[in-house]
Amino acid sequence: MKERLDKFISSLTALSRKEAQKAIRDRRVTVNGAAARAVDVKIDTDADTVTLDGKALTYQKHVYYMMYKPAGVVSATEDRVERTVLDILPPELRRNGLFPAGRLDKDTTGLLIVTDDGDYAHRMLSPRKHVVKRYIATLDKEPDESVVNSFADGIVLGDGTVCRSGKAELLGGTRAAVEISEGKYHQVKRMFAALGYHVEALERVRIGSLELDGRLSPGEVRKMSPEEANLVFQDGLA
Ligand code: URA
Repeated sequence: MKERLDKFISSLTALSRKEAQKAIRDRRVTVNGAAARAVDVKIDTDADTVTLDGKALTYQKHVYYMMYKPAGVVSATEDRVERTVLDILPPELRRNGLFPAGRLDKDTTGLLIVTDDGDYAHRMLSPRKHVVKRYIATLDKEPDESVVNSFADGIVLGDGTVCRSGKAELLGGTRAAVEISEGKYHQVKRMFAALGYHVEALERVRIGSLELDGRLSPGEVRKMSPEEANLVFQDGLA
């Protein structure tokens, strides 16, 4: 694809279009090894090698971020009252068109993907895909074995909604891991509520085969390659 150099740079970095133009004028940018001479030069995004400050920029149509969502922020692009997951992105990762692919409750922590790729999010969230999500729940009391069978059988929520069969694993104490392939509103909390438990804390640790990176702390974000982001479409490791 052919693209203007300044646009190319600003789409792949935190620089605005204006800042990218300045970087070009300051001779911080090379195209195929030679300092770029004009901001509006057209480059071939597949064939040309562009560097900024000596680092190669590889064309990527969309961005995919892994966030360790902390408690206390909402999974929305904007909110008049609450802080959103986009508000906590570091400035260098901000871009137009970003949104959270799926939602976690305000008090739920863990793996959240932020992207500008609508098709990707649509595929991941499609009820027909049955992408498996794994959560660790801390309950108000120690769960008994019957929880495992109830999840396997498919739980009926308080309002009569029938959930697909899932998986529960007792982790000792008041903790349990659950895997579900749907994304109904407050689903895990409501499934446990139907069994007589209150979820005190909930963390998502995996989507498909994509695991929450143990090196991230709550509130931290890192870029993913498209290949890594696509791990959500591989079966979970359960
Ligand atoms: N289930 C819930 O109850 N809450 C979440 O945030 C995610 C799944």
